[in-house]
Amino acid sequence: MKKILSLVLVMSLLLSMAMVGATAMAEGSQLVGVAMPTKDLQRWNQDGENMKAQLEAVGYQVDLQYASNDISTQVSQIENMISGGCEVLVLASIDGESLGTVMSQAEEAGIKVIAYDRLIMNSTAVSYYATFDNWLVGVKQGEYIRDILDLDNAEGPFNIEFITGDPGDNNINFFFDGAMSILQPYLDAGKLVCPSGQTEKAVVATANWATDAAQARFENLLASYYGDGTVLNAVLASNDSTALGVANALASSYTGEYPVLTGQDCDVASVKNMIAGTQSMSIFKDTRTLAAKTVEMVDAILKGTEPPINDTQTYDNGTGIIPSFLCEPVFADINNYKEILIDSGYYTEDSLK
Ligand code: BGC
Repeated sequence: MKKILSLVLVMSLLLSMAMVGATAMAEGSQLVGVAMPTKDLQRWNQDGENMKAQLEAVGYQVDLQYASNDISTQVSQIENMISGGCEVLVLASIDGESLGTVMSQAEEAGIKVIAYDRLIMNSTAVSYYATFDNWLVGVKQGEYIRDILDLDNAEGPFNIEFITGDPGDNNINFFFDGAMSILQPYLDAGKLVCPSGQTEKAVVATANWATDAAQARFENLLASYYGDGTVLNAVLASNDSTALGVANALASSYTGEYPVLTGQDCDVASVKNMIAGTQSMSIFKDTRTLAAKTVEMVDAILKGTEPPINDTQTYDNGTGIIPSFLCEPVFADINNYKEILIDSGYYTEDSLK
């Protein structure tokens, strides 16, 4: 009995020592602020969770916030991170142009800022940028349309419409212009034709990348230009939330053969559409890889070593080039999604049913 009692005593002593140790570690560890734009889109939830888990795994504390796509909410979250003692900020902005003042506060406090996925514009506070190769995202979407329609050999002409994302997101300049670098020559040659005439980025932009706005625009467009049976052969959509809006509009008001429809993010809803044949492809950006690279950046900043950088030419935020790490995007479609999304452990087969 005595033996058992002392064993229990020793064990509880060890347990409380471990708990004190853990608290001391948590108290001593440095705090990193992670600001994500919204929980509405699947990818940002994954980005946030991956960042938090991976930062904690290497011993940092994390203040993770989502801002419901509301700029003033995001600004006050960042202010709280600064006053709350965050030593590095990882920021996926809602609007890259609207963080000027709070960025100056971070700079004055000596806090380093990593722009995450979206570049923060016109601020000298941004030290690094971690993203995917956004130009390549657009190029791969454009190439997909070119290859599926066989634009170099088929007679055509083929009808195409365009939709991209939020005008305050610097990424659309790369997504849209990258895709147009492939498609514009075919428009110029008349092999591709845009019946609505809506080919300008500003005209085909979608505030907040919202699915319902994308759907409303395409319902209008289908009624105005395709109501007489004109066939729509392709839609360049810059991401999955806008592609979803297009697919919804097609489902409600188009009876012709389904167009080639691009996307980006491999959101579950879009992968399901890919399997059902109502979206043709999506760009897969493995948020685990982006989080891992960003964590390496944070760790290097806090340890005073060199962060990983593989691009020092592409991303000028208006104050000069921001040293960047660009992860590589790949495309997924019906033929390779199992290998890319399921075999890699990103999704389970069941989650796509
Ligand atoms: C991201 C995309 C995303 C879009 C909408 C962009 O900045 O790069 O992956 O689909 O925002 O959230």
